[in-house]
Amino acid sequence: MSVAVVTCENAPKADVDIRHVVLQRQWVLLRPNGDVRTPYMYFRQDGGIAGYQHVNETSWEIEGSELVFRHASGAVTARSGIIKSEADGSHLIVMMREEDASVCAHILVERPEIRDLLRSETPADLWTKVRAHPAFKDNCHIDTPGFSLPDMNDLEMIEVTPASQRRLADLGVNVLGPLGVRNSIVIDRRMQRINLAIHFHDHNFNTVILDRQSNARGVFNFEGDENVAVIGASAVEREIQISAVFRYNLAGLFLGAGSSVGEANFWIEGPGNSVQVGDDLMSSWGVWIRTADSHGLIDLERGEIINSAKSIVIGSHVWLGQDAIVMPGAMIGGGTVVGARSIVTKSLPACCVAAGAPAKVVRESASWTRKAHPDADEVADLQRYASAEILKHNAARRMQ
Ligand SMILES: CC(C)(COP(=O)(O)OP(=O)(O)OC[C@H]1O[C@@H](n2cnc3c(N)ncnc32)[C@H](O)[C@@H]1OP(=O)(O)O)[C@@H](O)C(=O)NCCC(=O)NCCS
Repeated sequence: MSVAVVTCENAPKADVDIRHVVLQRQWVLLRPNGDVRTPYMYFRQDGGIAGYQHVNETSWEIEGSELVFRHASGAVTARSGIIKSEADGSHLIVMMREEDASVCAHILVERPEIRDLLRSETPADLWTKVRAHPAFKDNCHIDTPGFSLPDMNDLEMIEVTPASQRRLADLGVNVLGPLGVRNSIVIDRRMQRINLAIHFHDHNFNTVILDRQSNARGVFNFEGDENVAVIGASAVEREIQISAVFRYNLAGLFLGAGSSVGEANFWIEGPGNSVQVGDDLMSSWGVWIRTADSHGLIDLERGEIINSAKSIVIGSHVWLGQDAIVMPGAMIGGGTVVGARSIVTKSLPACCVAAGAPAKVVRESASWTRKAHPDADEVADLQRYASAEILKHNAARRMQ
C-alpha cells in the first residue's frame, strides 16, 4: 500500500465546494453546480488521443468539504488541501487549488517504474531503468555498440522545485513556467555549464539526463508526463543545439556520445515512441526529426487513423545534411549521409549516401569524415568502421 501526502500551495477554503477534478491519464470532470453524483469520466489510455469514453466503475461523493473519490486502483480522500491518498501499486499525488472561482483537485497517478527511475542511486541502476522505460523497452539500442551511455558516474538527481530552480539555473538549466511535480534533471556533478531552457508546462514525472560534457543548448518543451530525454557528450569543442518537443506521455529521446548539432528539432510523440540516435551524429542546421505527423490522416473507407506515431533509430556516425527531415518510422544505418533538403521516409542502409525527397540511395559503400581533407589514417579508420557497420547492418536485416 502506497501513501502520498501532499500539502497544496494554495489550499482551498473549507467552505468552497469541490467542483472540478482532473486526473492525469484518466480525467474526471465534476460539473459545476450540477449533480456531482453523476460522474463523467473521460478516459485517455496512457495519455494518448485514442478517444474518450465513459467509465462507469468510478464513483465519488462530496461529504461536507471532503471529496472521496474511488476508482479501480483505490480511494482518495481530499480535504481542505491536506490530502491523504491510498492506492495499490501506484502513488496518487493530489493537489488542490482554486481555478476560476472553483476548486480543482489535481490527481496524478505515479507509475512505479517512473518513480523508481527517479530514485536510482547508481548509474547502473539508472540505465537499467531507462532501458526499461516504455519509450525504449521494445526496441532498445541504448548501451549497444555505437549507442554509448553518457558519463554519469558522479550522479545527482535534482527534482525540479522552486527551491532547486536556482541551483539548476547556475548549471545553465533554466526551468521556465509552471513546474509540475516530480520532474527531474539528472546530471553528473562535474557537468560543465550548459544553456538549456526547459518548460514543463505543469506536466509531471519527466526526466532529463545530461552527460557531464553534453554542451547542450536550446529548448525542451514537455507537453505531457513521464517522458525521458538522455543527452550524451558533444563532440570535442562542438555544441548540441536542439529544440525538442515531447508530446503527450511516455516518449523518449536518446542521443549518444560525441555529437555535433548545428540545429536540430525533435518532435517526439508518445506513448511508447522514441528517437534513438547513435554516437558521433553530425547534424547540420534546420534538421527535423519527427515521430509523428501531429495531425490525423484518416482512411475514409475504413474510418481508421493511418498515420500513428512511430519510433526512429539513427545509427552511429550519421551525417544529416542541411534542412534534412527524418520522418516517423525511419531507420538510418550507421555511417550514412543524408543529403541537404532530403526527406527520409523509410529505412536506409549503413554507409551509403541518400538524397532527394523521398531520400533514395545515390551512392553505396561511402561514408564521411568531419574534416574536409582527412589524412590516410583517418580514412583507414573510417574503412574499418564501415566494414564492421555494414556487417552489423546486414546481420540485423537478416534477423528481421
Ligand atoms: C549528398 C551529397 C553529400 C553528395 O553526395 P554524392 O554521393 O557526391 O552525390 P552526387 O553529387 O554524385 O549526386 C548523385 C545524385 O544525387 C543527386 N543529389 C545529390 N545531392 C542531392 C540532394 N541534396 N538532394 C537531391 N538530390 C541530390 C544528384 O543530383 C545526383 O543525381 P543524378 O544521379 O540523377 O545525377 C551532397 O549533395 C549534399 O547534399 N551534401 C550535404 C551538404 C550539407 O548539408 N552541408 C551542411 C554542413 S553540416
